Amino acid sequence: MQNFQRLSIWLCLFIALLLLATACSEPAPTPAIIPTSAPVATTAAPSSESTAAVPTIDSNAVQLFSWWTSGAEQNALDAMIQIYEREYPGSKVSNLAVNSGAVFDAFTELQQRLQRQDPPDTWQVHAGKESLGFVNAGQLEPLTQFFHEQGFDKTMPPLLLEQLKIKGEIYTVPLNIHRSNLLWYNPKVFKENNLTPPRTFDEFFEVAKKFQAKGIPALAISKLDGFSVAQLFESILLATFGPEDYLKLVQGDAALWADPRIDKAIQTLQEMLQYASPDSTAIGWPNAAERVLQGQEAMFLSGDWAEGHFKSLGAKPNEDFAWASTPGTDGVFMWLSDSFGLAKGAPHREQMLDLLKVMGSKEGQDAFNPLKGSIPARTDADVSLYDEYLQWSLAEFKRNKLAPSIVHGAAAPEAYMFAFGKALNNFATDNDAEALKQALLEAVVELER
Ligand code: GAL
Repeated sequence: MQNFQRLSIWLCLFIALLLLATACSEPAPTPAIIPTSAPVATTAAPSSESTAAVPTIDSNAVQLFSWWTSGAEQNALDAMIQIYEREYPGSKVSNLAVNSGAVFDAFTELQQRLQRQDPPDTWQVHAGKESLGFVNAGQLEPLTQFFHEQGFDKTMPPLLLEQLKIKGEIYTVPLNIHRSNLLWYNPKVFKENNLTPPRTFDEFFEVAKKFQAKGIPALAISKLDGFSVAQLFESILLATFGPEDYLKLVQGDAALWADPRIDKAIQTLQEMLQYASPDSTAIGWPNAAERVLQGQEAMFLSGDWAEGHFKSLGAKPNEDFAWASTPGTDGVFMWLSDSFGLAKGAPHREQMLDLLKVMGSKEGQDAFNPLKGSIPARTDADVSLYDEYLQWSLAEFKRNKLAPSIVHGAAAPEAYMFAFGKALNNFATDNDAEALKQALLEAVVELER
């Protein structure tokens, strides 16, 4: 209820601002382009971290919009920007990261700019179906020719190239590949307690009970950031259905969404959340990850941006932190890829094309990814620049089965992503299994479109 009230106030403010901006602005030169499936805000409260310091925008600088606000995310982006500014003297980037750590807040903010015909030059969008809404709304320029001219098609894995094609065209340049089905833990804490990281959900609950008996919350998780609970659930779906049926689920097989395994997956989530950080609604994912590093909580089930975060705090892989697959998903790499496109009507089109060249280059990706905690989208990386975890991930990507993430835009159009995210965020607060099942069934229609 409290969340709902905060959301309503927030929405009213947004509408008022929008009306004010419309009243004050010149008539738009072209008809407004509104996405056919504009993302909806979740019921998660806007992040307490989203004090959204309004960045000063240098009118000569390329405007880059993202939700990368953690130290590692910023460091990785800065490393790439430095290469760009060195290779194209005089060029600059305004980093417009939304200071919230919440993907859904960032989407809302981006939509406000797009709807008032004031696009940044580029914005973070996951490679794959997530771009569909922007393409349908005519907000991205096709980059197929540019992509070929730069030779990017010769250096990226076929799966990614396939995923990038929307209605026969490529619209974004991928920077990386992240893995989301990972369990991060502090090896010293496990050793002290004579425990090993769980490989199945049964083992997870055994381990969780032992930590609970010692007063240590087993599952460090954020219910604030709007994606962590949904992300945990997609990993549970993968474990419960296996990679083949998981693929059918995301392809919109309605009968599978009514399968009793859905009840089992919901029950597993429900049980896991009983071991969640007691203040999970008040912390973002970086805080949840840090608690595991500091030995205050036991396990963090999330993507390898956690790796980048740990390292940015000075931690060492296999000493201060270690990893395993999310229970039940060994041998499957749930993947996602961050990418950037070129806005239609980009205020700095030529500079932006130069930035995209750097983003797709070997040098750019080898500067960005070792800091970000992701492997490069290119296949010709200098492996020696990547740490133990990332070298393991590079090998896993080649030998594992691959499953696309729903929550991080690889598997499903954004209208589905948001319906899925909203259903899981509601569940995180109301714990209503029937309502979640119903919402998931109703959302399938968005997968069939
Ligand atoms: C994902 C994104 C990652 C990381 C993460 C947490 O959606 O792809 O790069 O930023 O969110 O912020």
